Amino acid sequence: MTASTVTEQPKFTEQPLLEVRDFQVELITDAGIIRAVDSVSFSIHRGETVTIIGESGSGKSTTAMGILRLLPEDLAVLSGTVLIDGVDVTADPKAIDKVRGKTLALIPQDPMTALSPVHSIGSQLFEAIRIAGAASAKDKGALQARAVRLLEQVHIPTPEKQLKKYPHQLSGGMLQRVLIAIALASEPQLLVADEPTSALDVTVQGGILDLLLELQEQRGIGILMITHDLGVARLISDRIHVMKDGSFVESGDVQQIVDHPATEYTRALLAAVPVLGPWDETPAATTLTTTGASHD
Ligand SMILES: Nc1ncnc2c1ncn2[C@@H]1O[C@H](COP(=O)(O)OP(=O)(O)OP(=O)(O)O)[C@@H](O)[C@H]1O
Ligand SMILES: [Mg+2]
Repeated sequence: MTASTVTEQPKFTEQPLLEVRDFQVELITDAGIIRAVDSVSFSIHRGETVTIIGESGSGKSTTAMGILRLLPEDLAVLSGTVLIDGVDVTADPKAIDKVRGKTLALIPQDPMTALSPVHSIGSQLFEAIRIAGAASAKDKGALQARAVRLLEQVHIPTPEKQLKKYPHQLSGGMLQRVLIAIALASEPQLLVADEPTSALDVTVQGGILDLLLELQEQRGIGILMITHDLGVARLISDRIHVMKDGSFVESGDVQQIVDHPATEYTRALLAAVPVLGPWDETPAATTLTTTGASHD
């Protein structure tokens, strides 16, 4: 398929959900200009998970935040092309408003700080549903029904009860599920997840990754996963891009990167991860065995 043949139909074409070409981000800092992202190109289609993996400071978050145009305009200079479901968000900074929180949603890294501590889970979810246009603020019944459905989708037990709770009353894993529910409120086609499990206990991580895979299978969502953990990447990815100093040092399908890493850098990432057992047969919590050195 060539991109030029599929530009007309707005939905369910073979056009990538995300197409990034020669993307570059320069950060203006006190110490000078840092090229945090240097000529990066990749794409994500429906139902695919593409992972960017790399050590701390390699430019993963800057790539994700740059694509979402969440970097301060005066401190980050972007170049190259980013097409989100065909919408060029680099040419026109306002174009991102057409897709962010609609076609595309972000799952933030730290569930403990991403939610407001003074508002109930319900009110934060209702707000997301209202912004997504899925129910009006006046229609309490519709808001409640949609919120319950979203919490059910992310396998939160007794959703009606949880809606009344405040963030500090839920565990980290449950809060991350709430954040995923909030991201799903707008029925996005593409999820950007920046280290969605790194703040969580390793046994809880498995459940969240499993949930993302299930959502993807059921709804054909595309996922951009950002992680420093090749253990996470190998479980969830179709393709992996290995990032170092702002550039991709190798790219390939998950098996290729894991079985035949081409660079010493990737081998070092591989050596540092816990190995998970068979995913489908046994709960992750009982199959974790650490074979390599931990990175923390
Ligand atoms: N606000 C900032 N001011 C100055 N430099 C920054 C800023 N944000 C990022 N950088 C620099 O940009 C580069 C890329 O950082 P980035 O946060 O994208 O890395 P990362 O791969 O996401 O790391 P981590 O795994 O720690 O989250 C680093 O050299 C970092 O020091
Ligand atoms: Mg980061």
